[in-house]
Amino acid sequence: MAFIVAPQAVVRPGIIELRWGTPDLSLLPVEEVGAAAQEMLRLAGPLALDYGTNEGPEALRAALAARIARREGRPPGLDEIAITDGISPALHQLAGLLVRPGDAVLVEDPGYSLALGLLRDLGIEPVGVPFDADGLDVERLPGVLSGVRERGLRPRLLYTIPTFHNPTGRSLAGERRRRLVELAVEEDLLIVEDDVYRELWYDVASPPSLWRLAADVDGGTDHVVRLGSFSKSLAPGLRCGFLTGSPALVRRYADSGLIDSAGCLSQFTSLIVAVLLHDGAYDGIVERFRQAYRERRDALVAGLKGALPEGCSCTEPGGGYFVWVSLPPDLTAARLRSFAEPAGVSFVGGAAFSVSRADHGLRLCFAMYGPEELTEGAVRLGRAIRLALEER
Ligand SMILES: Cc1ncc(COP(=O)(O)O)c(C=O)c1O
Repeated sequence: MAFIVAPQAVVRPGIIELRWGTPDLSLLPVEEVGAAAQEMLRLAGPLALDYGTNEGPEALRAALAARIARREGRPPGLDEIAITDGISPALHQLAGLLVRPGDAVLVEDPGYSLALGLLRDLGIEPVGVPFDADGLDVERLPGVLSGVRERGLRPRLLYTIPTFHNPTGRSLAGERRRRLVELAVEEDLLIVEDDVYRELWYDVASPPSLWRLAADVDGGTDHVVRLGSFSKSLAPGLRCGFLTGSPALVRRYADSGLIDSAGCLSQFTSLIVAVLLHDGAYDGIVERFRQAYRERRDALVAGLKGALPEGCSCTEPGGGYFVWVSLPPDLTAARLRSFAEPAGVSFVGGAAFSVSRADHGLRLCFAMYGPEELTEGAVRLGRAIRLALEER
């Protein structure tokens, strides 16, 4: 039997594809997931193949609650967790449930390109909030909110990636985190915190989530929902994630028409994840990823520092998947592409991430290739930038 399966990430011959935000296939935990699937079927039997409870299996919610309590110091109640099929579908679902005509959704500028596309599919045109080396510019948020209200719109959601941001790899600075939650309460805005890279820190443990900090701010817990995912800490094909938020928000999600009809959207895989959490395999996998990605991050950053011409700079992320390269003001990513791809390297250009379509940055992913190819990718990129600058 020809059993044809292809990855989403297409690799073109001769090109080091730094454009894809996907893991290296050779790192994915095939053995561990196989063993956990067998054990899970032994434990759950036919219930694994049935529709699951709307909020997701207690086996996973309880294991997650215990882990979150240990790691983050805020134990979520079981009524404060729902299992999802990943961050993208959960964001789509929440935006569809909560945003009504006349509501505005705020995002970082630059922000996660695929979330922008997902919001636009729902008829929502996101409003950008300025972003700098310390993450979302919290002091400028009230000005953006006033502008939104002057246009007759009601600010409803703020979608943000405060920890190892996609595309820049930056994290929201410590003092800004609490202030952001306070502002959300003052302005009656719901923060949707995308926490996809929490497990992937390489130097020091990830900063506290906004969800964690919300417990220390009066009224905070009603104003933050955190979206977590096993896509980066286990495997994206499992399509399994979770959300932590107020009991009312968790109920709104779990009682929605879609989930009422389908039951838990990742019933089968969430039970496998529960086994991986229980037997400790999860911690081993995360540690393996951390070691591999730390080395890759180091290789790409060192390679870029040696290869980028004057006028360019790159971020040095403490976690996640991405490095951001800033180009000189007279070179756009769109123009650079016609030099980079013939030189054998790809990237995602800034315009894809920007509400204002600013195009002077490049996102490079270091998860998919080993250190040697990343070093070579940096050399190729440096060469392409020099050529593009010379041919002005
Ligand atoms: C910031 C961010 N959010 C969400 C996702 C996708 O998460 P999931 O696979 O859980 O839908 C990604 C994947 O690259 C991401 O970078």
